[in-house]
Amino acid sequence: MAREPILKPDEPENLDDDRDLRPQRMGEMVGQREVFERLQIAVDAAQKRNDPLGHMLFDGPPGLGKTTFAMCIPRELGVPVQLTSGAALSAPKDLVPYLTNASERSVVFIDEIHRLPKAVEEYLYTAMEDFRIDIVHGEGTNARTLNLWLKPFTLIGATTRAGMLSAPLRDRFVIREHLDFYTVEELQTIVERAARILKVKIDRVSASEIARRSRGTPRVANNLLRWVRDYAISRADGEITMAVTTAALKMAGVDDLGLGKQERRYLETLITVFGGGPAGVEALAHTINTAPDTLSDEVEPYLLRTALVVRTPRGRVATSKSYQHLKMSMPTAEGVGGQPGGRKPGESADGVESDGQSRLF
Ligand SMILES: Nc1ncnc2c1ncn2[C@@H]1O[C@H](COP(=O)(O)OP(=O)(O)OP(=O)(O)O)[C@@H](O)[C@H]1O
Ligand SMILES: [Mg+2]
Repeated sequence: MAREPILKPDEPENLDDDRDLRPQRMGEMVGQREVFERLQIAVDAAQKRNDPLGHMLFDGPPGLGKTTFAMCIPRELGVPVQLTSGAALSAPKDLVPYLTNASERSVVFIDEIHRLPKAVEEYLYTAMEDFRIDIVHGEGTNARTLNLWLKPFTLIGATTRAGMLSAPLRDRFVIREHLDFYTVEELQTIVERAARILKVKIDRVSASEIARRSRGTPRVANNLLRWVRDYAISRADGEITMAVTTAALKMAGVDDLGLGKQERRYLETLITVFGGGPAGVEALAHTINTAPDTLSDEVEPYLLRTALVVRTPRGRVATSKSYQHLKMSMPTAEGVGGQPGGRKPGESADGVESDGQSRLF
């Protein structure tokens, strides 16, 4: 398996295209004030004690800053970091080099840690608790176990699904932080910061409009801003105004609540195919032709958070807010429901096409 390089704290990581907009230091992070303050205390105390920082787990929906926070920590500590991801560690032997290379107080960051196979998870138990791993040499009666002592390091994990981690692994993280959706005001600050970095002119109402339609998510805000910027360059004079913003977002299929094609397709399927629910996530995913994990990790958190959908023991149910948003009529006592009020299923309230296939945002 190819190993990622050990990064020095001041080298910008090359994780994705987001690197220009990704805050490099914790002080640049917008919002999440409580998380920020707790992390600041933990980092400060670890430095003053001259001890490694306790193992740390970040969880929450995609795009809220888990990786960004995790990457800021080693910079704050001034220690090297090794990066890997749960999916890349298919057996304990894949993990060993990261652990044996970890210098004292350095950070090993495992992104998507819920994707670690059980055997690798179990291998982490003693590494995290006692800074020890056991390596078995030979086979059968000749097998010998070698205890290898590690330097005290910090493991940072990030996941969209903390519930999938085994309890023993979860409990070995002494600091656990859940990231929640951002307010419109915080997202507006993120849009304005990103616009400065991208060197594009944007007025306050447009920044606020992009923020309002970003589904509480900084990554969506940044992606929408980039799209609106491109639209402004191509179809206008390069400056982002409200007229440019609304036209660009309409063209991208982002509706008034910020729902994209995938979210609308979910709601329309729930209403028109399943009579508003209850419907199981597997059945919904099958009908929409999407993976159930994509629905539960990426699409549902915001719909649940904004009460467009509720989760019941029998499945997902569309709320009256969903019907209103899609301009569909609620089911009646006779059981006739989900009929679109004067429009065809698949066509959404604001005339945005909803083919559920392409997904810009
Ligand atoms: N608090 C913040 N302030 C400013 N920008 C942020 C903040 N949080 C996230 N961002 C921006 O959003 C982008 C996505 O964040 P990040 O990659 O950390 O999300 P994530 O939670 O790790 O998502 P995933 O679960 O998909 O891995 C970052 O590149 C950064 O530009
Ligand atoms: Mg991430």
